[in-house]
Amino acid sequence: MKIAIIGTGYVGLPTGIGLAELGNEVVCVDKIEEKIASLSAGRATIYEDGMEELFQKHRKSGALSFTTDMEKAVNGADVVMLAVGTPPHPITKEADLKYIYAAAEELAQYLNGYTVVATKSTVPVGTGDEVEAIIKKVNPTADYDVVSLPEFLREGFAVHDFFHPDRIVIGANNEKARNVLLKLYAPFEGKTEFLLVNRKSSETIKYASNAFLAMKIHYINEMADFCEKAGADIREVAKGMGLDSRIGKKFLNPGPGYGGSCFPKDTNAMAQMGRKFGAHLNLIETTIAKNDERKVNMAKRVIDSLDKSTNGKIAVWGLAFKGGTDDCRESPAMDIVSEIIKHSSNVTVYDPKAMDNAKKIIGDKVKYAQDAYDACKDADILVILTEWEEFRTADLNKIRGQMKTHKILDLRNMLNATEVRAAGFDYACIGMK
Ligand code: UDX
Repeated sequence: MKIAIIGTGYVGLPTGIGLAELGNEVVCVDKIEEKIASLSAGRATIYEDGMEELFQKHRKSGALSFTTDMEKAVNGADVVMLAVGTPPHPITKEADLKYIYAAAEELAQYLNGYTVVATKSTVPVGTGDEVEAIIKKVNPTADYDVVSLPEFLREGFAVHDFFHPDRIVIGANNEKARNVLLKLYAPFEGKTEFLLVNRKSSETIKYASNAFLAMKIHYINEMADFCEKAGADIREVAKGMGLDSRIGKKFLNPGPGYGGSCFPKDTNAMAQMGRKFGAHLNLIETTIAKNDERKVNMAKRVIDSLDKSTNGKIAVWGLAFKGGTDDCRESPAMDIVSEIIKHSSNVTVYDPKAMDNAKKIIGDKVKYAQDAYDACKDADILVILTEWEEFRTADLNKIRGQMKTHKILDLRNMLNATEVRAAGFDYACIGMK
């Protein structure tokens, strides 16, 4: 089928590449010329594990192309997917739909032949109705349906998640639109669950899922605080909880708070919708407030562990909002580093992928290390902020040889406390005394 993807960000690009791999002709359109120029020249604009190979393969085969020309992308498309940003309004935190509305207005004029317009971005409940009204106004004779087609891709695992979805949710209000999407996702038949629901249910599923996952993370973080006071061990508690199939093992890793471009945005938007519809979502509102508080508390924990008299060197591992990505948006690590540098001018940071993005935020207020061990050279303390797998298997003796004094503050519980202490470190983590 011919697919147009509007927006070439963390959702649009992996989705376009995935659909090309499934045998479709995909045209990705974006307003930002530099992005399109870079993608057309074969330079991916985001890092995603496993994406580069498919990107090059389908760019070269012509199955995947990039343009700033909306008409070229939409003309003759069977499905047009809206994958543009829905950033939080700076004050109300409501999802700002200006890009969705602008894209709908622009694509409407080029619709010819029956087309399914799908919102792939995470959009507030009822947005499908608004998009429908915009298209109708711009092009009253167009033959189209608007559906909700939420994505559940995790950053850093977008390609994996595209090909291994837990479910494909299709929020369509009529059979014709539903059948087009069932044809598009036919390669997944028998491999995953298809959920055919009404459009508003589909829009709600996305927010309800993300807000629940954020709440689950907040829950385990709160349990970690309890364990520290009560003398329990959060790793054992999380393991004991996760073995209950109704709870599940995933998203029970305590840390400095959740971040990223989704959870903070989606929890705030969901809470706002609750207020708008007069159905207050108290658990989500509490999750938001307590998660913000946790980032401040974690920064304080780092500051309190510094020996301020010596202005000793602080090594920081991790800047991205989570392991496996280069993205620093709403990164707890960046919040914490921004706090640390108010108290110390002697900070060296390392992140396997996110240093370029971090530089745009903290510039030369910190030094940037070549690698994890280089960061530790002459350091008094090592602070671990992001769950990169390479940190888990770091060579403790090599670290010890690099550092001046041997303190580790592990805010992701990446290391094995017994091993680290046996290697002669003063080791502190979260969720245990
Ligand atoms: C999330 C949802 O998982 C995904 O389904 C949705 O489509 C987009 O939002 P993402 O934001 O990429 O994906 O990251 P995710 O892996 O969910 O992690 C979000 C944050 O929670 C990160 O800061 C991560 O470090 C943190 N986290 C995650 C924890 O602190 N503990 C955990 O156990 C899991």
